[in-house]
Amino acid sequence: MFLRKKQPEARVTTSPVDADEFRAVMRQLAGCVTVITTELNGELYGFTATAVCSVCATPPTILIAVNKSARTHPHIDKKGAFAVNILADGQKHIAEHFATKGDNQFQSVPHFVNARGVPIIEGAAAQLHCEVQDRIAIGTHTLFVAHIVGTGVQDSTPLIYHDAKYGLVTHI
Ligand SMILES: Cc1cc2nc3c(=O)[nH]c(=O)nc-3n(C[C@H](O)[C@H](O)[C@H](O)COP(=O)(O)O)c2cc1C
Repeated sequence: MFLRKKQPEARVTTSPVDADEFRAVMRQLAGCVTVITTELNGELYGFTATAVCSVCATPPTILIAVNKSARTHPHIDKKGAFAVNILADGQKHIAEHFATKGDNQFQSVPHFVNARGVPIIEGAAAQLHCEVQDRIAIGTHTLFVAHIVGTGVQDSTPLIYHDAKYGLVTHI
């Protein structure tokens, strides 16, 4: 006889979900850790981000969600170009570095620049070189929808973020 395991009760409500309740659920959505980078007038900018989503492969398109208060936000907006650096499993220190406010953030981080002058972090698991196609304002954030104009993939595994902690991929 097949016994179905009883699932824990889900709280389903029609009343508004508050921000803390929303965050508690999103902490279970494990994601790759990236650093979004850009350049404007010779200055390099970057911040740690997990809100990166594939949109479609034809044409190759992604979206990122950037807080309007992030220092990099106006520079992505003006430049219309950025890179997504998918961090490798040994780059937790880089994730922490770009999640913290600081000046000259690229001084201590090995990088090179792409054809658009956008910094690419050395040793990352993969990169997407992006041109902004569309901007959608939602609450505190802007969604930048972008066309992929170049890629890079290295032979490494990515750094993961889950339940407010960094982790590694385990294949099963
Ligand atoms: C794991 C992790 C993921 C993050 N994801 C995002 C994100 O997707 N979008 C965003 O705007 N900020 C995100 N942040 C917050 C920014 O990295 C952080 O606020 C950063 O300090 C902003 O750059 P600034 O200090 O130059 O303004 C994330 C932070 C961490 C630690």
